[in-house]
Amino acid sequence: MNQQMMKQAVANAATEFLVPHLGENVTIGIGTGSTANFFIDALAEHKNKIAATVASSIATEERLRAHEITVIDLNEATHIDFYIDGADEANHQLQLIKGGGGALTREKIVASAAKEFVCIADESKLVDQLGAFPLPIEVIPMAARYVSREIVELGGKPILRANVMTDNGNIILDINDFTISNPNETETMLNMIPGVVTNGLFSLRPADKLFLGSASGRVKELRIKSE
Ligand code: A5P
Repeated sequence: MNQQMMKQAVANAATEFLVPHLGENVTIGIGTGSTANFFIDALAEHKNKIAATVASSIATEERLRAHEITVIDLNEATHIDFYIDGADEANHQLQLIKGGGGALTREKIVASAAKEFVCIADESKLVDQLGAFPLPIEVIPMAARYVSREIVELGGKPILRANVMTDNGNIILDINDFTISNPNETETMLNMIPGVVTNGLFSLRPADKLFLGSASGRVKELRIKSE
């Protein structure tokens, strides 16, 4: 099974998990990226049972609307029951790196608002230590150079993502060669740099469950491993 097929398989697994929970008062947060797109397309088969969704990006909102699935603003939602999204990296504590698609801020907001965060990914995303994937941070444009210098002080190598403006009108810096030995600390530290809107570490609010696709076709369900 190739990577695309694994993404389809985890999207199907998340849909099977979710469908019995769908109902009148159930709101679903929807992530962004190619795996999330497979999920949206699979979920669309059950659109008559979907009361409302909250999108984590303009691209996701457009895809949901193309399927005639109801999308509401987060401010209109009294609660979010489930958030389903992909990841760029996941460790065994289900802490994640996200933002490869640049939607990290809205993703983190919707994930944080959700009662249950279900991550869907192929097995290439599972790592022992986060950080081989360059860590994206969303930055207010006027702070780009200041934030870059602060990142260098912290030992990382920030690279401006060329020709990218986020849905919020900001830029993305991708931090390369960055050691993340304590994801909670790193997430907090990066949040404290003035000008940083969000960083792509989802550690303080990890996923609750990970559907992981493997080349054999099997989808494993991982939960946070106790230390
Ligand atoms: C979008 O900003 C990201 O957080 C994606 O969720 C992440 O990059 C995973 O993307 P794929 O599903 O395309 O691999």
